[in-house]
Amino acid sequence: MSTVFANVSLVSLVHADTFSATLKNVSLYQPQLTLIEKYWASWYIYMSNDILATGLMFFLLHEFVYFSRSLPWFIIDQIPYFRRWKLQPTKIPTIKEQWYCFKSVLLSHFLVEAIPIWTFHPLCETLGIKVTAPFPSWKKMVPEIALFFVLEDVWHYWAHRLFHYGVFYKYIHKQHHRYAAPFGLSAEYAHPAETLSLGFGTVGMPIFYVLYTGDLHLFTLCLWITLRLFQAVDSHSGYDFPWSLNKFLPFWAGAEHHDLHHHYFIGNYASSFRWWDYCLDTEAGPEAKSKREEKMKLRAQRDVKKMN
Ligand SMILES: *[C@@H]1O[C@H](CO)[C@@H](O)[C@H](O)[C@H]1NC(C)=O
Ligand SMILES: [Zn+2]
Ligand SMILES: [Zn+2]
Repeated sequence: MSTVFANVSLVSLVHADTFSATLKNVSLYQPQLTLIEKYWASWYIYMSNDILATGLMFFLLHEFVYFSRSLPWFIIDQIPYFRRWKLQPTKIPTIKEQWYCFKSVLLSHFLVEAIPIWTFHPLCETLGIKVTAPFPSWKKMVPEIALFFVLEDVWHYWAHRLFHYGVFYKYIHKQHHRYAAPFGLSAEYAHPAETLSLGFGTVGMPIFYVLYTGDLHLFTLCLWITLRLFQAVDSHSGYDFPWSLNKFLPFWAGAEHHDLHHHYFIGNYASSFRWWDYCLDTEAGPEAKSKREEKMKLRAQRDVKKMN
């Protein structure tokens, strides 16, 4: 029996043999719910197994969002008109390259995610992550998601920076750097150990949050993961448009930031925001390098003056 409604007898009342019949019943008995809440509740009631309902939902959400967000970038790569906004315009990924990447990402999704599918709902129950309909208000969800973006970025900066040291790079992170000019699909092309440790920023930060506050809804987590996938795929797209988000939010990293990381292999370790690389002087690219050298020269001159 699902726990999607606080009222358990309501769940057994509206349960039907097909999803659409369940949806019809839910709409009839819970007309105050929004459309998406009705679909959510019907999914849990129709499945009659919260563990499978949560696990399967996350798997399908991940696959759907990741590949459907990558598809427009694949199409854009085929259209010469868009080359003017490509960050490394001479390096257009071939269809063969993208096909290889697609296959290996899909395979690793099936291998890596088989476990979370079966363990995620029990984990949610232990932590007190709710699945109930109705959902929390936007006023509650938006600041939570913003916080997850900030926290994930902290984790990503330090873990990614660590991945660029010796053995970590050689045996794990090197795989992700196969593409010096990345494309959308290559966002999750990585060693499983990297997927797990960098993925911890996405799933682990909300877990810390709920351990601290005791209050988080699974739908908030779904929205967060969707937006985080958008961020990851877009930052690997290889395109920087005049209408890209970083043109409106100057601290947003975007493709311009992460493309330089793939091009030069050092610097720009953060995922969503520019502040860590800026403040800790790890920005990538020749421009940042000459700025750094300029700063070092000034410092040296100052020291010489002091000595005189
Ligand atoms: C739910 O739908 C099924 C199939 O349409 C129907 O048989 C059942 O009576 C409905 N339940 C309620 C409470 O309306
Ligand atoms: Zn890297
Ligand atoms: Zn990357």
